[in-house]
Parts: sequence; C-alpha cells; structure tokens
Amino acid sequence: MKIVAFFGTKGGTGKSTLSHLLAYGASLHGQAALVVHTDAREPERHQGRPYHYFDGRDPGRLYALLERAKGTEAGLCVIDGAGNRPGLTATLAKAADLVLIPCGIGGQDAPLALADLEQIPAAWLIVNRWPTLPKHPRRPKAEAYIAQLPRERVLCRLGESAAADRFTESDRAPWTTPSARVTTAARALYRRIADQLAAQV
Ligand SMILES: Nc1ncnc2c1ncn2[C@@H]1O[C@H](COP(=O)(O)OP(=O)(O)OP(=O)(O)O)[C@@H](O)[C@H]1O
Ligand SMILES: [Mg+2]
Repeated sequence: MKIVAFFGTKGGTGKSTLSHLLAYGASLHGQAALVVHTDAREPERHQGRPYHYFDGRDPGRLYALLERAKGTEAGLCVIDGAGNRPGLTATLAKAADLVLIPCGIGGQDAPLALADLEQIPAAWLIVNRWPTLPKHPRRPKAEAYIAQLPRERVLCRLGESAAADRFTESDRAPWTTPSARVTTAARALYRRIADQLAAQV
C-alpha cells in the first residue's frame, strides 16, 4: 500500500475532509483504501463506507498497521494527521510516501502552512476551499492570497464545494452515495495524487 499523510498544525484546514475524499476516490477507482484516525479526539463511526477506517490513536497499534500497510502490495493508506500531536507527525511523515498539507485561503492559513512545509520540506500543499468558478467574486482575493505560497510546492486546488454535504460526518446509516459534486472531486483528487505517487517511483 502507498501511505499518504495529511498534516497541518492549524485546525480546520481540511485534513479529515481530504482524507475521506481521497479514500473514497481510491475506492471509485477500484483500489482498496483505508483512512487512519490519529486525532486524540474520539473518532466518529464510519460504517458502510466503500473504504476502511482504522482507529490509530494508540501509537503501538498505529505503527503495527503501517508496517502491515507497507508490506501489502496494492491500495492506499490515508493518514488523517492530527495537528495537536507534533511528535507523532515527525514519525508519520517519515513513514509516508507522500505528505500533504491542506491550506485554506485566508487569515493565518498560508503562514502556518509555510511553517509546516519548513518542518517537512518534501511535503506538498493542497489549496483547499478554492472558489472554482473563474468569475467567482472571491476569486481575485483568493489569487492574491495564494501568491504567498511557493507555486512549485502546490500540488492542486480543491474546490469550495467539494465537501458540500459534510462528507466526513458519516454515521448515516446506511451509507448513501455522496452527491455528484463530491464524487467528481474525490475522483479528481485521487487521480492527482496517484499521478504524483507514480511520478515519485
Ligand atoms: N473543500 C471544502 N469545501 C467545503 N467545506 C470544506 C472543505 N474542506 C473542508 N471543509 C469543511 O471545513 C470544516 C473543517 O474541515 P476538516 O474537519 O476536514 O478539517 P481538519 O483539518 O480535519 O480539522 P481538525 O484540525 O479539527 O481535525 C468541516 O466542516 C468541513 O466540512
Ligand atoms: Mg480532522
């Protein structure tokens, strides 16, 4: 399995959303996928989803899982990294094939993402909550804002509407297929990341 980890010290940047979107995208492409919860908070239940969910809060269990994932031929292991566990972040960043830092488009998002990138220079930024429509009223401000990010370290931009139906909040029983918007975003995110992983080999 390839291991992809989402990190970022700032809360609410989209680590969980992107983790689930990516795993869902992988499942749509016929890949086995797994989201690993590392946040100290109690995990939500994610039953009936087309990918697995693992409670990785205990470091012993987490490292054993990563060893198993590395020894497994196919599939994608997605770590939903917790910003509040810096020791763990360094270890997981080393274990991961790809580290991704979601970055919003306002306030302290960019400076904090840049500080994270300094800690993990091999990581890539994903601009999240991008106003996708070219004529979107917030587009010029967003363009100006992300100019402070190094262009060559931005892997892709994820649209504002990508998580419109609060995708990470499962516990909907039974699991229902998300909207076409979410599904399209999930496929695109997976393809972009799969391309990056393939380019790194
Ligand atoms: N592309 C997006 N479009 C719309 N809403 C989004 C998008 N990405 C994230 N959100 C929303 O932003 C909120 C925070 O996202 P999320 O929980 O994924 O962040 P996080 O980095 O995991 O936060 P924490 O640091 O608390 O774990 C959620 O309500 C989520 O639905
Ligand atoms: Mg989260």
